[in-house]
This record gives sequence, structure tokens and C-alpha cells, in this order.
Amino acid sequence: MGARHELFATCPRGLEAVLHQELKELRMGRIERQVGGCQFQGGPAEVARANLWLRTANRVLLRVDRFPCPSDAALYEAAREVPWERWLRPEGTLRVQARVQDSALTHGRFVEQRVKDALCDRFVERTGTRPSVGDEDSDLRIHVHLFRDRATLALDTTGPPLYKRGWRVAQGRAPLPETLAAGVVLLSGWDRRSPLVDPFCGSGTLLVEAALLAAGAAPGLGRSFGEERWLSSDARAWERARSEAQAARRATPKLQVLGSDLEAERVEDTRANLASAGIEAAVQLEVADGRRFEPRPGWNGQVLTNLPWGVRVSDPARVLALYEAFGQRLREGASGYGLALLAGEPRQVDALGLPGERVELANGNQPCVLLRSRLA
Ligand SMILES: C[S@@+](CC[C@H](N)C(=O)[O-])C[C@H]1O[C@@H](n2cnc3c(N)ncnc32)[C@H](O)[C@@H]1O
Repeated sequence: MGARHELFATCPRGLEAVLHQELKELRMGRIERQVGGCQFQGGPAEVARANLWLRTANRVLLRVDRFPCPSDAALYEAAREVPWERWLRPEGTLRVQARVQDSALTHGRFVEQRVKDALCDRFVERTGTRPSVGDEDSDLRIHVHLFRDRATLALDTTGPPLYKRGWRVAQGRAPLPETLAAGVVLLSGWDRRSPLVDPFCGSGTLLVEAALLAAGAAPGLGRSFGEERWLSSDARAWERARSEAQAARRATPKLQVLGSDLEAERVEDTRANLASAGIEAAVQLEVADGRRFEPRPGWNGQVLTNLPWGVRVSDPARVLALYEAFGQRLREGASGYGLALLAGEPRQVDALGLPGERVELANGNQPCVLLRSRLA
């Protein structure tokens, strides 16, 4: 077994408990829930499995140092002591990103520059040459977190964020990030077999993520990860994790999927994404108005949907009227259904007029609310 590291998986706000559960199911060590993610421990095998399997995480970071950082000199000296040459070739590319809060050093850009200077000076001293600064796709991405004059230096093992699964071929208008959609599916309590209904399906993110879950499909199986480009990368650990994930994938249970949207183009987006994700399902897709939604009686299905939030809409009353009409259709005809309805704000949930538990979530900086319940 390789060395153990402090790892941190980041996730959308509100999904920390779901991520914690995912890490538990992956049998990760010393999991600790924090704001914005979970800390855990592991070596190369855990880095590979976390990246391949986590559905709600955006990134997996590996901590390389933590130190008091009251000044520029303290930052530079500590960053110069880090053995960067373990991970990066002298001719490689790097990118540094800093987040700074409540500290003597106040400028993120300056912090990024100083860590880059320290790293490059170390390389020049040891090898006579230095890595160059690259873009998002650099060989090594370094995260600096400076909080109350304590700095944490971490390496991003993920590369492009984990919501980039590789199945999306159509965007729709306001697609949910795959990580948030997976979180909604996991929070919904869906049994992974019952029919799925999304009457505001847009590009179909919720339906695809639900079906991938039902198939036991590792969401990262179709992509590569940042850590695989490190000098220290353990190719065998990745191979093992990938073949385990391949073996775990079942044929999707023959799900009944019913998706609809007011816009014909969105319905086509959903069709394209379901096909690209290789979902085997009895898919029924149609153009329909959610205000006249008619649940199939006796389906005992799961309504999983992300209603329009009306963020850029000039007439919020019209959006509320849509929630009222949809809520009424559910109250009248959806007995036995599980509900997971993602709304933009509490007022919109009120307008649904449905019982249930509210979970506060966020899409980036935009807060949102999930109502979950089962109608008697
Ligand atoms: C927030 S988007 C859903 C995004 C989707 N979850 C995704 O990831 O792509 C809301 C969708 O509701 C659709 N919509 C708006 N009014 C509707 C109505 N009255 N009936 C059905 N769909 C409607 C919009 O066309 C849009 O695609």
C-alpha cells in the first residue's frame, strides 16, 4: 500500500452529508464532514477510487502542507520547502489558485504568484530549469487556502472538475451540474427501480444521473484525471480501480423513464444525453406543459424534477403560478409517488402546496431548495 495522505473532496453546498455517505460506502478512512466538502485519508488506490466513483464531489484535493502564514516571507519559505519535484517534471506546466480569507495577506493573485515563485526557484536551484505556467489543463494544479493566517497547500488530483463526466452532448438552457443532480437523486430516496418522471426535463441531467446510479456505473469511468499526469502517479492503482469499476457496472435495470418539457428542443437534448450515456431504458419523451401534468395512476414512480427558477425572468408571479398549477396536479393525481422537486427559493416551494422536508442546497452561488416527500 502507498503512503497515506490527507484528502479533501469538495462538493456543492448542502451536499456534505450525502458526500459523507458516499465516502463511507467507498470504505474510505477517517472521514470528517466539513463545510464545502469532506476530509478523509488514503493512498493512491483511494485517490483513484474517489475520483472514479464520487457522484457529488467536484474535486479531490491532496494536502501537501499546512503552516502558519502571517507574512509573505513565511509563505515563500514554506512553499520553497515543499518537494514539488516529486510530482512535476522540470519541463512541466503548473497552475496555482488561491483563496484568501481573514488573513494578513489579502490578495489571492499575490499569494498565487509567491507560491509559483517559490516552486520555480526551487526547481532552478536543483535542476537549472523551471516549469512554466499553464492553463486549466496544466500538469500540476496547486490550491492554496489561506484562512486566519494559516495556509494549506493542496494538489488537485482531479483535473477538469468531476461534474465533467463525459456523457453530456447537449446543454439545454440551464443544465444542472451533474454533481448537484446526483445529490438530488441520492437525497430523493429513490429505490433505483421504480419509474422516473421529470416533467421539466431540460437536458435530462436528473434522468441520466439517476439511471447511471441504478446501473452501478462509476461516473468517472469515461475520463482521465489530473493525478495520472503526476511523476509519482501509480498506474497500477488506476488500472485496478478502473477494472473494478468496469466489473461493477451492471446493465441498467429496465427503467421506465418519462421525460417532458414545454420546448421540443429540450426533449431532443434529453434524448441525445440519454443515448450518449448508454442508458438502456424504456424512454418516453414528449413535449408537454407541466401545468397540465398527469401522473400515471398506480405507477408508484419517482418525480425528480428541477422546475424553472425564474432567475432571469421579469415576472416572478408567472413562475409562482406554474408552481401552484404543478403542485395541484401532483396533489390530485400522484398518490404513491416519491417527490424530489428542486425549486429556486422557499416562496416557490410554498406555492407547490405540498407536504415534505426542505433541504437547502446551492448551485454555485445561487441558493436553491429541494422539497422531498412521498404522497400518501
Ligand atoms: C431549470 S430547467 C431544467 C434543467 C434540467 N434539470 C437540466 O439539467 O437540463 C427548467 C425547464 O423547464 C422547462 N419549462 C418551463 N416552463 C415549462 C412548462 N410550463 N412545462 C414544462 N416545461 C417547462 C424549460 O423549458 C426548462 O427546460
